[in-house]
Amino acid sequence: MRRIALTVNGVRREAEVEPRLLLVYFLRETLGLTGTNVGCDTSSCGACTVLVDGQSVKSCTMLAVQADGTEVATIEGLARGGQLHPLQEAFRQHHGLQCGFCTPGMIMAGLGLIESGAGMSDEEVRLGLEGNLCRCTGYQNIVTAIQDAAGKMRQAAPAGVQGGSE
Ligand code: FES
Ligand code: FES
Repeated sequence: MRRIALTVNGVRREAEVEPRLLLVYFLRETLGLTGTNVGCDTSSCGACTVLVDGQSVKSCTMLAVQADGTEVATIEGLARGGQLHPLQEAFRQHHGLQCGFCTPGMIMAGLGLIESGAGMSDEEVRLGLEGNLCRCTGYQNIVTAIQDAAGKMRQAAPAGVQGGSE
């Protein structure tokens, strides 16, 4: 067993974990954060996407011990004070989900994309989401939601100051 300490959604967490434990199972089973989904066993669906030190990562491709000392953000950390995060609100407004299974991963991947400062053309957003699969929506509403949220978030916090803690 290895002892790890990391910050998850702004809260410091410490645990003893097996070295083979994947980050996604640490989040879901050790911490009970079941918003991060597991949709495949081939690292291809992106349902497990979280942010690790601000970068979107498929948490089924990373060991919990590799997250030692990092800051992890999951879907549970986005809403504040009962208010949806602007990206969650945009998914709601633009019907960016149907069954919702891919949605936590889509939102975290979208957030990583927005906070990276990436371009927000249709092509750029689709390229940024190429690691995330949705069986329901056809993607266009997801792309629209991310573009809309990016516009609002970048207006509120221009040029590289997104993602700071409040
Ligand atoms: S569970 Fe499918 S990519 Fe991680
Ligand atoms: S909304 Fe069903 S998989 Fe994306």
